[in-house]
Amino acid sequence: MIVGTPLPHESAALHVTGAALFTDDLVGRTRDVLHAHPVQAPHAHARIVRLDPAPAYDVPGVVRVLTGDDVPGVNDAGVRHDEPLFPTEVMFHGHAVCWVLAESLEAARLGAAAVEVDYEPLPSIVDLRDAIAAESYQGNRLLLESGDVEAGLDAAVHVFEGETEMAGQEHFYLETQASLAHVDESGQIFVQCSTQHPTETQEIVAHVLGLHSHDVTVQCLRMGGGFGGKEMQPHGYAAIAALGATLTGRPVRVRLTRAQDVTMTGKRHGFHATWRVGFDADGRLVALDTALTSDGGWSLDLSEPVLSRALCHVDNAYWIPNVRAVGRVARTNKTSQTAFRGFGGPQGMLVVEDVLGRCAPLLGIAADELRRRNFYADGQATPYGQPVRHPERIERAWQQVTESGELARRTAEVAAFNEASPHRKRGLAITPVKFGISFNFTSFNQAGALVLVYKDGSVLINHGGTEMGQGLHTKMLQVAASTLGVPLAKVRLAPTRTDKVPNTSATAASSGTDLNGAAVKDACEQILERLAGVPGDTWEARVHRAYLDRIQLFAAGYYKTDGLHWDPGAMRGNPFKYFAYGVAASEVEVDGFTGSYVVRRVDVVQDVGDSLSPLVDLGQVEGGFVQGVGWLTLEDLRWDGRDGRLATQSASTYKLPSLSEMPEVFNVALLEDATETGAVYGSKAVGEPPLMLAFSVREALRQAAAAFGPPGTSVELASPATPEAVFWAVERARERSLSWTG
Ligand code: MTE
Ligand code: MOS
Repeated sequence: MIVGTPLPHESAALHVTGAALFTDDLVGRTRDVLHAHPVQAPHAHARIVRLDPAPAYDVPGVVRVLTGDDVPGVNDAGVRHDEPLFPTEVMFHGHAVCWVLAESLEAARLGAAAVEVDYEPLPSIVDLRDAIAAESYQGNRLLLESGDVEAGLDAAVHVFEGETEMAGQEHFYLETQASLAHVDESGQIFVQCSTQHPTETQEIVAHVLGLHSHDVTVQCLRMGGGFGGKEMQPHGYAAIAALGATLTGRPVRVRLTRAQDVTMTGKRHGFHATWRVGFDADGRLVALDTALTSDGGWSLDLSEPVLSRALCHVDNAYWIPNVRAVGRVARTNKTSQTAFRGFGGPQGMLVVEDVLGRCAPLLGIAADELRRRNFYADGQATPYGQPVRHPERIERAWQQVTESGELARRTAEVAAFNEASPHRKRGLAITPVKFGISFNFTSFNQAGALVLVYKDGSVLINHGGTEMGQGLHTKMLQVAASTLGVPLAKVRLAPTRTDKVPNTSATAASSGTDLNGAAVKDACEQILERLAGVPGDTWEARVHRAYLDRIQLFAAGYYKTDGLHWDPGAMRGNPFKYFAYGVAASEVEVDGFTGSYVVRRVDVVQDVGDSLSPLVDLGQVEGGFVQGVGWLTLEDLRWDGRDGRLATQSASTYKLPSLSEMPEVFNVALLEDATETGAVYGSKAVGEPPLMLAFSVREALRQAAAAFGPPGTSVELASPATPEAVFWAVERARERSLSWTG
């Protein structure tokens, strides 16, 4: 079997040699390309009083200025009809009001600078707390309820309440948003785009141009990272390129600079939460009453589904019999916040992990013990009514991390170290992850594939998923070769295109392999069925014989996930095919003078079912974990309160995790004996769940900070827990220490 073999990423050699082609690399291979540059507004909120493109035409090289008057179809870049492609009202600092096309990017930039725009500034809201105070909301209020939360809180022995706030996160994919469009002699539009959702890009381009879907083809070669940031954000840029190509008859390229990308595109949602929680005498959770408000930015795009997933993950791996979780999306004058690895799940889970981390010292129970005591057990269901299958895997992964990570010995070592060290303290924390796999929106859980076998026995596969570095194509090659029973070298994969596989879902929700893998397998099985009984010593001989016998050698595969249902109004159902589980233990050391810290060691056990591609999965676990550490400890988005300008616009001010932030010791194991029946070759999704294992680092930092105070110190830790935030947490713990001893 080729599935299950540790293989390098299918494009690894191309990536490291620079030979891999990304969308914008095609510009150099295309003639007469025009370059696009936006005119970005310098206000958080303003009415456009006058827009005069004429001066731009005096700039040598400028060919065309695109404005709202040029749109033949619908002036909207989204699916919620709240995202004008060319706005008349500026909704955030950096909002593009029009675009200039020119012979060179430099000419386009100068042209954009020459466009004259008069603005009438309007009142703006940039801060999430201000939005809550002003009741500035958008979209539906969501309510998830189970049991009787008031009765649960009344019956609880211990009740605590608090607030939890967490910041968003910039995707910082290496490849910024990019599209290259051209129009052929019959008016057919072809857009090459760095998009996780080619079908939706196609639909938006069509509606902006007033065309049908069959007039537009979108192709995605590969992405230099998406992380959710290319699920919905690429559509408008693709539409600008397509509109420009239509009006000028020349290929048009849109490729954002880093500063444009960071100031114009949506990010992970920051959240604010209030909570009341009740425990029984043994520290078992009896009730959680929580209100989550996400910072949606100026328009909805994916904010409602992100919020929905957040509410569906406030339980994480813990059984809470009585839950009330209310969710709202705030409207602020910021970029439109969007999908980001975990899709709200991390924000929901952070709430309960923060609750447990803060309450453990108040209950007098060690945090690891408190967490474990509350794990789901067989027969229990989530607050939205889905039975939790295989909860014993949480316990199994926990055990494995405890043993392989030698937690008993190291916990004693940490205590001894802290005893002897007044100015540096260590923390060691272990946290679980339970993450639902499938799109909450049931219809998205379908996929297609097209498998072609040529007369010589070589195989070409197409599927609806996109490659963003996660190794989906590698897995699809393995699935096709395994199913057909041919060597990997016989199978090739063609770029993702909407004219090969139509009506695809976004490659998202970590479900790319589950969905497309099953569709590829289905197509291969259809072909095998037709080949059954065809004589021949080899695959090639049988295929050739089959051709002569006039047997169809290609097939369209299809898959839809069975057994899913979801009532979005009631927030109840069975939205997930299964849960992906994982456990991580992290040890940190904090310097009491500065709050700076290092991650000394991390041990992870992740449940990926029967891994299709162990090396790829290992990379996903490591990458996801480190990206989570970035979100929770380093990456600090700052908006200027005066004019709503994003102050952290580049890698010099926005700190990303790099090699130097990698844990000094990083052990990753995949859970064994973990076949997932009903999923492709027994495998499980891996793309997003490991990100949330990074909670172990945050909780270790909390415990290290607590060690600067007296026993029982409950530490409130800001998120991100930057060295500065950790420093203040240490100071607060120390103050408690002073009053306690004094
Ligand atoms: N890994 C890499 N290298 N680059 C990415 O952009 N995106 C993540 C994850 N892993 C991403 C990644 C996100 S947000 C998702 S939803 C999944 O990959 C999507 O791919 P899959 O469904 O094939 O797992
Ligand atoms: Mo991933 S956030 O579902 O693209």
